Amino acid sequence: MASLRSFLVCIIVLAAIVITPSSAQLSAGFYNKVCPQALPAIRKIVRQAVRNEPRMGASLLRLHFHDCFVNGCDGSVLLDDTSTFTGEKTARPNAGSIRGFQVIDQIKAAVDKACKGSVVSCADILAVAARDSVYLLGGPEYNVQLGRRDATTASTNDANTNLPPPFFSFSQLLSNFQSHGLDLKDLVLLSAAHTIGLARCTTFRARIYNDTNINAKFAASAKRSCPSNGGDNNLQPLDATTKKFDTVYFSSLLKSKGLLHSDQELFKGDGSDSDKLVQHYSVSPSDFWKDFSASMIKMGNIKPLTGNAGEVRLNCRKIN
Ligand code: HEM
Ligand SMILES: *[C@@H]1O[C@H](CO)[C@@H](O)[C@H](O)[C@H]1NC(C)=O
Repeated sequence: MASLRSFLVCIIVLAAIVITPSSAQLSAGFYNKVCPQALPAIRKIVRQAVRNEPRMGASLLRLHFHDCFVNGCDGSVLLDDTSTFTGEKTARPNAGSIRGFQVIDQIKAAVDKACKGSVVSCADILAVAARDSVYLLGGPEYNVQLGRRDATTASTNDANTNLPPPFFSFSQLLSNFQSHGLDLKDLVLLSAAHTIGLARCTTFRARIYNDTNINAKFAASAKRSCPSNGGDNNLQPLDATTKKFDTVYFSSLLKSKGLLHSDQELFKGDGSDSDKLVQHYSVSPSDFWKDFSASMIKMGNIKPLTGNAGEVRLNCRKIN
């Protein structure tokens, strides 16, 4: 009798766990009914922007990452400073480096026109623009999850503490990712976003002058555009095929040609699990496509605002 009762209690508890959304639910078809034109409208602007400047694809991908790692994927990174809060744009990881805001404004205008109203959130625009950028630069086209709403506040402080800096060690990188519900595999895969885009001298100077696990020719060549003093904003490709979403990021790490210290931390040649992942993806583009897509969806699921939480911003730069 007692065991039957505890069995039933178990079933009820299990059912509750299954039925109750653990985090709020996003879905691929969120805008299918309310605005089927939304995704094509976003794709069109991203295509124009990437054709105009391939690096913009990288910048849009990074915007989504910097959004999600600071209190969830809630469009907070897009908010300008106001008299009541200092936003994320001026935080250390973002100041002078994060870009793409004009393209997001263009997308918001185009999508609101296509939908005859403001129904698509800025947080979702970031997720779709990131996906489209990856696809348009030759990467996978995954089903992006939608239904996020926009935050009504932002925090410089949280951007400073929650985004990983390039001087982090492997264990610091891993614990940072774990603090966002991501694991080693996600760390290796999402870092490979550095297969596209550029970095400023100031972010890799210490690596090219002081790290020992670096290819000598590669360091010498990077030093030419990144002097030990000055030239902080001089740009350098994050991998050798910076306009193409490919596996060259991984094969470069095998040759000690990671540009950022944090990149090379993922491959040290000591046979670690991280090393094994880098080695595997360097020779398996199809697994990289598949697993990168899964990790992007996972990152896109970090603490979204859904239902009636937050708002759908009229202007991505300010709260309604
Ligand atoms: C693992 C920890 C990471 C660190 C330490 C890191 C650090 C950096 C740094 C320092 C830059 C150059 C910024 C500048 O020049 O000021 C950069 C650029 C970039 N990052 Fe990361 N990043 C990380 C993970 C990621 C992730 C997860 C993504 C996306 C999924 C990403 C996407 C990008 C892209 C695309 C660029 C180039 C942006 C452009 O050219 O505008 N990064 N990252
Ligand atoms: C390299 O290391 C030395 C000794 O720690 C330090 O003084 C110097 O500033 C470092 N150089 C760079 C470019 O980080």
